[in-house]
Amino acid sequence: MATKLPEIAILGAGIFVKTQYLPRLSEISHLFTLKAIWSRTQESATSAVEVARKHFPGVDCKWGDNGLHDIIQDGSIDAVAVVLAGQNQVDISLRMLRAGKHVLQEKPAASCTSELETALSSYKSISADAPGQLIWSVAENYRFEPGLVECKKLIAGIGKMMSVHVIIEGSMNSSNPYFSSSWRRNFTGGFILDMGVHFIAGLRMLVGCEVVSVSAMTSHVDLTLPPPDNISSVFHLENGCSGVFVMVVSSRSPKAYVTLHGADGQTKSSFFPFSGVTEELKAFINDVSENTLKLKGSQFEAESRLSFVEGARDVAVLEAMLESGARKGELVNVKKF
Ligand SMILES: *[C@@H]1O[C@H](CO)[C@@H](O)[C@H](O)[C@H]1NC(C)=O
Ligand SMILES: *[C@@H]1O[C@H](CO)[C@@H](O)[C@H](O)[C@H]1NC(C)=O
Ligand SMILES: *[C@@H]1O[C@H](CO)[C@@H](O)[C@H](O)[C@H]1NC(C)=O
Repeated sequence: MATKLPEIAILGAGIFVKTQYLPRLSEISHLFTLKAIWSRTQESATSAVEVARKHFPGVDCKWGDNGLHDIIQDGSIDAVAVVLAGQNQVDISLRMLRAGKHVLQEKPAASCTSELETALSSYKSISADAPGQLIWSVAENYRFEPGLVECKKLIAGIGKMMSVHVIIEGSMNSSNPYFSSSWRRNFTGGFILDMGVHFIAGLRMLVGCEVVSVSAMTSHVDLTLPPPDNISSVFHLENGCSGVFVMVVSSRSPKAYVTLHGADGQTKSSFFPFSGVTEELKAFINDVSENTLKLKGSQFEAESRLSFVEGARDVAVLEAMLESGARKGELVNVKKF
């Protein structure tokens, strides 16, 4: 049987498209055809297309409302990657799903739980009317990072989990390319939400169960950053275990520190490359190919680590932490998705 490579378009032409999507997609360019890159302005679409043409010579440049309309109308485009300002992503993703295209959307899944609720109910009704399954994935990469995947295996071997500590000290200062990003500064929760979903995704994958409730204190230390920029939270897991989640947005000594205390006191450490973005792009393209090829009536299971609902759960945990922080540590239950 002849197999046709899936054709995809990228919506967005910002820093992350140029420095991550295009280089990572070029590593797996045998798996798909890059049909077009779209941006709101011609200038930004052109600048991303220039970068892309080195690896994808046939890519079309699309911009503005007309360009978006062209992509919606183009039946040969099977899937799109939505890599836009966080506030606009859900809206554009839903428009693409309505047009029958599979979507890989950048994190965060949405900017708050009320937007998540609307998003999930719209997705449900679009799916009910669609002839086949429509995939809506969220790219958060941590569920695909080899180091964390290995860590999950180690956790399986330690016996009863007693305590989990997640301590993240980021480096979001003026040297960071995302420091001036206006939409990230315009989120409720600032960089805690935008960066934090990665760490919550990692935490939830490692412990293998949901966060039920949280209590947090937040503060605003670095006034060049949107508030809050520090959060210290205690969380309670479904399995009865509790833990601590600390995140500092901008630290002079950045580090990600996940400690695992086994009953026998042993620790084990190894080094893994940070390659989750490539892994998740590959998984999405595989899902799109399989979905297209699947025989009528056969079951198709999309990669669960990419599912929209996983991304929704990460946002819900952070929203609960931020809400608790705003109420001086009051216990807040995490909304279930
Ligand atoms: C920031 O958010 C407000 C309210 O949601 C919106 O009106 C404004 O256009 C946003 N600004 C930017 C730069 O995204
Ligand atoms: C916030 O983070 C900064 C940077 O790491 C740290 O120096 C400071 O002690 C933290 N403040 C609070 C109140 O947690
Ligand atoms: C930002 O953080 C990085 C990593 O800690 C550091 O190397 C750099 O000097 C910092 N830049 C500024 C302007 O503070």
